[in-house]
Amino acid sequence: MVESDGDGELEARLVEQEEFEPSAEFVEQANISDPKIYDEFEENWPGCWEQAAALLDWDSPYEDVLDDSNPPFYKWFTGGKLNASYNCLDRHVENGDKNRVAIKWEGEHGDTRTYTYQDLYREANEFAAALRDLGVEEDDVVTLYMPMIPELPIAMLACARIGAPHSVVFAGFSAEALATRMNSADSRFLVTCDGYYRRGDPLDHLDKANEGLDGVDHGVDAAVVVDRLGDDGFGHDLRGNQHDWDDLLDEHSGDRVDPVQRDAEDMLFLMYTSGTTGQPKGVKHTTGGYLSYAAWTSHAVLDIEKEDTYWCAADIGWITGHSYIVYGPLALGTTTVMYEGTPDYPNRSRLWELVEKYSVDIFYTAPTAIRAFMKWGTQFPERHDLSSLRLLGTVGEPINPRAWKWYYKHIGDEECPVVDTWWQTETGGMMITTLPGVGNMKPGSAGPPLPGVDAKVVDTGGEEVEAGRAGYLTVNKPWPGMLRTLYKNDERFIDEYWREYSDTDSDDPDDWVYFPEDGAKIDGDGYITILGRVDDVINVSGHRLGTMEIESAIVGVEGVAEAAVVGGKHDVKGEAVYAYVITEEGQAEDDEMRDRIVQGVEDAIGPIARPEQVLFTPELPKTRSGKIMRRLLEEIANGEELGDTTTLRNPEIVEEIQRKADAR
Ligand code: WTA
Repeated sequence: MVESDGDGELEARLVEQEEFEPSAEFVEQANISDPKIYDEFEENWPGCWEQAAALLDWDSPYEDVLDDSNPPFYKWFTGGKLNASYNCLDRHVENGDKNRVAIKWEGEHGDTRTYTYQDLYREANEFAAALRDLGVEEDDVVTLYMPMIPELPIAMLACARIGAPHSVVFAGFSAEALATRMNSADSRFLVTCDGYYRRGDPLDHLDKANEGLDGVDHGVDAAVVVDRLGDDGFGHDLRGNQHDWDDLLDEHSGDRVDPVQRDAEDMLFLMYTSGTTGQPKGVKHTTGGYLSYAAWTSHAVLDIEKEDTYWCAADIGWITGHSYIVYGPLALGTTTVMYEGTPDYPNRSRLWELVEKYSVDIFYTAPTAIRAFMKWGTQFPERHDLSSLRLLGTVGEPINPRAWKWYYKHIGDEECPVVDTWWQTETGGMMITTLPGVGNMKPGSAGPPLPGVDAKVVDTGGEEVEAGRAGYLTVNKPWPGMLRTLYKNDERFIDEYWREYSDTDSDDPDDWVYFPEDGAKIDGDGYITILGRVDDVINVSGHRLGTMEIESAIVGVEGVAEAAVVGGKHDVKGEAVYAYVITEEGQAEDDEMRDRIVQGVEDAIGPIARPEQVLFTPELPKTRSGKIMRRLLEEIANGEELGDTTTLRNPEIVEEIQRKADAR
């Protein structure tokens, strides 16, 4: 949508950009504090990325850093062999860190579990042995449909150990979403759990998992079920091919499984994410490039040291949790905190209580959470000693300068740098952000591209825009953490990410440009402000949702003829789902119908996609060629002045929809 240009420029004028310097104390101890790194990486590209690979232990060394002979199918660290589980576990156990805490887990009720590297090593080995016993072979995709319990990272590392890529499906997703992903990935194995706690109540997760399993077309060989709820469980009997996690570990107690030597380019995992069509995309990440990049960015941007207690308050069901709860931090051998619950249960001090309790050094969260903290007030963080904090980070959506400053002041006490990290499921790790010990921070602006990352802001023709103007973000050189393709769909990979700005007939890598589908603006000093998605993706509380996916869920509800969904601004969630629905003749447009629509969306995707508002309309605003004018619907959702309606086939409908929206 070219319309985002105008908004971007407006914002650029309105936002008076202040700069904040990192404290001398922070800089002095930072993993990276010399600005020369930018030039060094540029001069020595792609060789610079050996610094990332050097953070890992390789079973056999790679021959080339980058093979760019067949763009956009880049290969990194070719010929190298390694194992991700070995790098996250064994080498720390062998190097004298076996008693260091790897995971500090806290349940919603305050129950805790502590895993040293030795503990994690033992359980990952036992579970790897169990998976093999169940028939999992190298390259089989194992689906993990689990909430924030320690068995999730253990299962991930067990899969990595035997070279079976995992595909984690966010526990809040519906049964249908699970089935879609298992079908798409040809996955015949599932690890799940009986349930988990949300705001004090146990949730029946196995019921959803079972329903999902029933929808797997190719059948399922085996499922493993973790008993999280104990006596609070829902009493499901396990099915014939379902196994209890604890029984399996008992059976394999003491077993050790040699880590499989994986090629650098072998798949480590698949992660499904939303795109423009109704079908989620299976993003493929590899062992060598991804892990190097996750480790390097954890080192360079999150400033993680072994001795730290580090907490990323995301869910492992999303890429942020993969890279920055599990792989990056564990590769570096630090202590990573995992929390099962929500930030406001049993009270709004919960996160700050944990920061104090565990003396957290580094805290990484999403702007949606920060906006909620801001709304609740400063009294909650003020009750706790947060002085252990050294660095703060945000990810997932643009952060407005007000929320940034609130975070900086009330959580970081104006002592901790804040890194605003732009990246995507597809990029594997951070791409645009300040290095906290090097650059000044400008609230609202993510910062310059990381060393070695070549990002630009261009116009529709691919020409770089002038400083201060809005355009489209592109990445002009490959990077180790990049997705390699969409699972079994090279064609869609090219269409979705490359076609827009590349000469797709060329085999010169300089002619290939990655398009992340974000709008952005760049300042004279090279700092990039991200303006948000320019495709049909909505970002609700930092969760990517495709409008097409939601629309097809709504159209699946009986009595619905057509639907259009847009993202409207929301002061906590960032964006919320607004649905405009045309019903079939004779269908009552009442609350019962609205409830069924909301339920339909929850069933197809999950509660995160629940529409904030459902508005019935006899027609949708359409161009003469029949395209729905989403921009107008967005303006209505946001209560904004309406733009041009003259190109519409049915301009009168816009006023009618607006009247209805105003009346609600
Ligand atoms: C948005 C999450 C502004 C962006 C890691 C991107 C951001 C999408 C930022 C990817 C940020 C992520 N500032 N926008 N710091 N970080 N985004 O795949 O629109 O869930 O394209 O990955 O989130 O979302 P995803």
